[in-house]
Amino acid sequence: MSLSGKKVAVVGLGYVGLPLAALCAKKGYPVIGLDSKTTTVELLQKGQCHIRDEVVERLLAEAIASSNFTATTDASRIADCNIYLICVPTPVDANNEPDLAPLESACRFVAPHLLKGDLVVVESTVFPGTCEEVVAPLLEKLSSLHAGDDFYLAHCPERVNPGDPFWTSENIPRVVGATSDEGVDLAARFYASILGGDIFDVRDVKQSLYPKFRETEYGLHISQVPLGSVTRMHSIRDAEAVKAMENTVRDVNIAFVNELAKISDVLELDVVDIIDGMATKPFGKGPFYPGVGVGGHCIAVDPEWLKAASKKAGYMPEMIQLARMTNNGMPEYTVSILQDLLNERGYPIKGTRIAVLGVAYKRNVDDPRESPFFKLREILHKKSAALSVFDRWVTSENTAQSVDECIEGAKAIVIVTEHSDVVDRLSKIDLHDFDVEVIIDGRNCLDSEAIRRQNVLYRGIGR
Ligand SMILES: NC(=O)c1ccc[n+]([C@@H]2O[C@H](COP(=O)([O-])OP(=O)(O)OC[C@H]3O[C@@H](n4cnc5c(N)ncnc54)[C@H](O)[C@@H]3O)[C@@H](O)[C@H]2O)c1
Repeated sequence: MSLSGKKVAVVGLGYVGLPLAALCAKKGYPVIGLDSKTTTVELLQKGQCHIRDEVVERLLAEAIASSNFTATTDASRIADCNIYLICVPTPVDANNEPDLAPLESACRFVAPHLLKGDLVVVESTVFPGTCEEVVAPLLEKLSSLHAGDDFYLAHCPERVNPGDPFWTSENIPRVVGATSDEGVDLAARFYASILGGDIFDVRDVKQSLYPKFRETEYGLHISQVPLGSVTRMHSIRDAEAVKAMENTVRDVNIAFVNELAKISDVLELDVVDIIDGMATKPFGKGPFYPGVGVGGHCIAVDPEWLKAASKKAGYMPEMIQLARMTNNGMPEYTVSILQDLLNERGYPIKGTRIAVLGVAYKRNVDDPRESPFFKLREILHKKSAALSVFDRWVTSENTAQSVDECIEGAKAIVIVTEHSDVVDRLSKIDLHDFDVEVIIDGRNCLDSEAIRRQNVLYRGIGR
């Protein structure tokens, strides 16, 4: 299929779908963005962005300027599209089991409009087997067409890093797999057309781009492929597994450094210094950092999808389970440190004013999904602490309107998110002016010595 004149539908206009839709429009494709949330679409129709992210805002402005982008809640508007990109959430339910409802619903929107030669790409993160076992049967049943023969079904997991001005939807290297050779070729050509990069085969990546990989077995760093490149995987399951496993590798490693942080606490080491030291080794390492907990819609969720698929196939991955438990337990650990330091100054947690800074799951983003903030707040509430909360990016939980108002009168500060405004402000003020006696730096983002010099008790996670 030639790509010229093809029309794109993007289903789900969130952190992944919106910048992707905007990028396709910017690159000249007519794009219909379909989202089930009316408020999101109404904002987009007015040219306003519902996501606070400079890169996404810029891309949206460029898409609007191109006149190629339309947002709608009306699924019939995607009828004459040829390329369907599915970017809906893939959460877990209350039992940490994959919740396939948004993905199945997106398939139901797409299937009635499918014609021979169309391309469907799942960008949402899914467990290996989802496209063949869930997506293909549903699309086939509702369209009476066959994946691989009549239409093409591919998976190209998004790896965008919200809040990161460098690795964006425009340049992050992609992997793609499909249910047929033609499908993977077509999907790779499509992504190369929006990313502007080269296309590789996974075998070429190992053999040509990484000659040292074979000699030393240390050289495979995926970020070394050129910006915006697309790598064809052997199968659609391989592409699914790349994403589910790379995020699980991250989760397990973060859990491990959280363990190292606890070891550092009992051995009276500063884990940040140790990680900086380890980072000087030029191969075979992270760095990964400990903290108050792992959040977001990816690292805190994708390992559960992978675990569920593995368990169903007969193998229970204990290490993934342990990593999830370790990372989910970090808010408790953080509160235990807080309790120790308040004790040292003679304050009970009950009734003591504690300022919690940060709700978002990571620095300078407006996304609170799976943030450790919620668990931490629940524990502190149960202990009857008097809480104040401030986050400039996620305002829904705020009890104060600024960092200063939040910490005014608080005996302790707990940093959940190292937003730059928080780090800047806490680095500048005299903590005595605010009566603060304890700081728990849940992101190890402050100058510990500078704080201790103010006679304030300081503890990070592992420092
Ligand atoms: N957020 C990230 O950093 C990130 C990075 C890489 C991959 N991913 C993956 O991408 C997928 C999407 O994540 P996200 O962060 O963009 O989610 P999101 O919640 O920000 O966006 C999803 C959008 O889809 C809409 N939606 C839900 N069901 C729909 C349906 N049936 N039809 C139309 N619209 C529907 C929602 O209203 C929402 O606007 C997930 O699988 C996630 O794991 C996310």
